[in-house]
Amino acid sequence: MANTVLVGAQWGDEGKGKIIDFLTEKADIVVRSQGGNNAGHTVLAGDKKYVLHLIPSGILRPGKQCVIGNGVVLDPVALVEEIEGLRGQGVAVGSNLVISDCAHLVMPYHRALDSAKELAKGKNKIGTTGRGIGPTYGDKVARTGLRLADLMQPEIFAAKLATRVEEANAQLKAMGAEAVSYKAILDASLAAGEKLRPHVVNSVLYLHKALQAKKELLFEGAQGTFLDIDHGTYPYVTSSNTTAGGAATGSGVPPHRIDTVLGVMKAYTTRVGEGPFPTENSEIADLLHGMGREFGATTGRARRCGWFDAVSTRYAAMVNGIDEIAITNLDGLDTVETIKVCVDYQLDGQTVEVPPSDYQRLSACQPVYIEMPGWKTPTDQCKTFAELPKAAQDYARKIAELTGGKLLIVSVGAHRDQTIVL
Ligand code: GDP
Ligand code: IMO
Ligand code: MG
Repeated sequence: MANTVLVGAQWGDEGKGKIIDFLTEKADIVVRSQGGNNAGHTVLAGDKKYVLHLIPSGILRPGKQCVIGNGVVLDPVALVEEIEGLRGQGVAVGSNLVISDCAHLVMPYHRALDSAKELAKGKNKIGTTGRGIGPTYGDKVARTGLRLADLMQPEIFAAKLATRVEEANAQLKAMGAEAVSYKAILDASLAAGEKLRPHVVNSVLYLHKALQAKKELLFEGAQGTFLDIDHGTYPYVTSSNTTAGGAATGSGVPPHRIDTVLGVMKAYTTRVGEGPFPTENSEIADLLHGMGREFGATTGRARRCGWFDAVSTRYAAMVNGIDEIAITNLDGLDTVETIKVCVDYQLDGQTVEVPPSDYQRLSACQPVYIEMPGWKTPTDQCKTFAELPKAAQDYARKIAELTGGKLLIVSVGAHRDQTIVL
């Protein structure tokens, strides 16, 4: 039995949802421990496409349990919509979903503040998803947040919300933004709260009982290493710990009960929103966008694209303790003649060992590339590693070697069955 943390090793959208769905077949419980509905995890199962935002991607596998842990920030109205949307697609959501009563609530004023702050930043904006994530984590850290436990007690919630709305409206007014309505928020939140009530538990106790019963846990990371509030390209990051350590604090599962860290990375690099991106490249962006690929699952924005960056994934391997590697979207490079891989950064005429911590210096880094021959053959029907063209095998092995970690999975398409296990 192994408890696994799956993390994104780049800037998010690495294909975590697809890999989680694949691995859930063998796990018992899938746990989200950070982030909120800024995440968009795509799973293709049969002829259906699902995009999960707050609910763990394990929900699509009958008989598996899903947990939204204490470290997640959740918008109760959006969560109810997601549950109902899944039910509309024929997915059972009932006792298979449990939610921590310590999860912080994203309220409409958080979304309003998110937008107002972005607007005020002008050209220095972060390019957030607009889901209110930063302001909600801000309240959590400032110890003024509202939690699901509050929403379960309507009178307490109503009183706390009144204070919070008053403060938020003062802030919104100062920023020239529209005020939010206390009554509208109260009514919508309480209605959503009643629908969520059957799912709300002390998830720490729930997970400890599961560990005692020798259940296998799979932690579904959201976002990616370089969006981490501590280790990412600050301030162009999200507001949670997206790296492996976040799985322990965000769920209450002790670190020593985590056995393996699986790093998911695309065969190239993408990023949405603003911020430094050393290997960004317009040719590969045009190629992928031309194939109808790399548009955001949450906001629909075109993702920025670039070559694989082994300097950053090497750092991701270090900060997460990546043992195993899943490479996704290898098929995205099927038509490329010569593939570049960044193996070093040059800054001020010197090689830097790790990505500089400040975004100005990181933006000034010049990538040093090696070139590898493309395979110019479709890989999407390959079922085993041996069936991949030799150049594709070499490329996947090179990425794993440069990053450091055992190559476990190569994904050659969005469907469940387009997954090669080594
Ligand atoms: P996540 O946020 O990490 O779960 O990733 P997203 O779902 O936001 O973005 C990944 C995109 O790549 C989705 O559209 C997936 O369906 C798709 N995808 C995942 N793996 C593969 C793959 O190996 N090949 C192809 N063609 N698409 C993939
Ligand atoms: P998944 O789980 C890619 C990015 C936003 C923005 C920054 C801050 O699907 O990989 P936020 O709304 O969190 O305050 O935005 O983080 N971002 C993501 N980029 N994938 C995600 O999630 C992301 N979640 C947030 O684009 O640059
Ligand atoms: Mg995504």
